[in-house]
Amino acid sequence: MIVPPGKFITFEGIEGGGKSTQVLLAAQWLRDKGLDPLVTREPGGTALAEKIRDLVLMPRDEMLPPMAELLLMFSARVVHLHNLIEPALRAGRWVLCDRFTDATFAYQGAGRGIAADVISKLEEMVQAGRQPDLTILLDLPVELGMQRVAQRGGHKDRFERERMEFFERVREGYLQRARAKARRFCVIDAGEPITAVQTRIAASLQAFVDD
Ligand code: TMP
Repeated sequence: MIVPPGKFITFEGIEGGGKSTQVLLAAQWLRDKGLDPLVTREPGGTALAEKIRDLVLMPRDEMLPPMAELLLMFSARVVHLHNLIEPALRAGRWVLCDRFTDATFAYQGAGRGIAADVISKLEEMVQAGRQPDLTILLDLPVELGMQRVAQRGGHKDRFERERMEFFERVREGYLQRARAKARRFCVIDAGEPITAVQTRIAASLQAFVDD
């Protein structure tokens, strides 16, 4: 029997937008519809890719040059795609992924200043045409995002220690990409209450369930 491939849905946005919570709520919404989604994240998602995540997120004394950061993101992505995402999609499972390559264009591209065509070349080599079917961008003002991160408390990773200007560039990078790829992106105001955001996400997933 030929199983139709699953849908690949990604969630993006600057820190503090409630992305991780919304991924879990979306997964529950899909389960209620009788689906069995795989929930995963980048960088990470498999034991090996999570080790690369630790390398790239852990603050350390020695500088991690932007190009090394970029290559580590894509190394984790190769492992994740090969060992988890592609087999799940082939088996007909929906995959909900907390961040994917749009984060690379936003953080390493707009944030760190690496040229988009360099990132596109790696994307082509690593993904062999694989793109998300739908990308939910949880957008919010940087100041609000930073306030939420501060309220959460705890230890800050290498990115969370960046300055406001960095996140302003990242946010603008995401919004530009959403405009350029308007058919794939659904931009949602993450400053709204959790339930309102969840309802907007469910509405955009519904179209795919009906497909
Ligand atoms: P998270 O804390 O939302 O899981 O994301 C981890 C951090 O990794 C976040 O600050 C964004 C960053 N990141 C990149 O810079 N480039 C990427 O390609 C990905 C997937 C994440």
